[in-house]
Amino acid sequence: MRRTVVRLAIFAGIVGTLTQSSFGQRSHASTPDPITAVVYNAYCVVCHGVDGTGSPTGKSLNAPNLRSAAVQKQSNAALSRFISEGKERMPAFKSQLTHQQVMDVVLYLRALRHRKNNR
Ligand code: HEC
Repeated sequence: MRRTVVRLAIFAGIVGTLTQSSFGQRSHASTPDPITAVVYNAYCVVCHGVDGTGSPTGKSLNAPNLRSAAVQKQSNAALSRFISEGKERMPAFKSQLTHQQVMDVVLYLRALRHRKNNR
């Protein structure tokens, strides 16, 4: 029962983000990506893998499992700062992604955690 509520909350968050980026930011016509999977798949999958557990490349660089509690327990602010600024072998994305895209991708990471094959 609680899980359903959590899922609904995440879904609402994604829909909220969607609505915001499609209607709130008309000036950013260059954001073709409704559900941020596009951003994640373009910039993150190479190291973090489709499901966030890490590609062979990512693992060889010591990238953590993005679905792990160690990552997920951090605040949205901490994660978005990390993605913008980078750290060690994790590249900085502030020159490639807008603040909104970074925030969206953080929500996407939250959703990854709740995929069916989570363990
Ligand atoms: C070149 C490979 C590479 C790419 C591309 C990459 N990462 Fe990472 N990522 C890493 C590595 C390596 C670490 C571990 C960094 C460390 O702490 O030493 C990491 C760590 C992280 C963490 C964990 C932060 C923490 O402190 O727990 C998050 C969140 C993250 N990456 C998100 C992303 C997102 C989102 C993208 C795409 C916008 C992305 N990464 C793209 C390699 C990559």
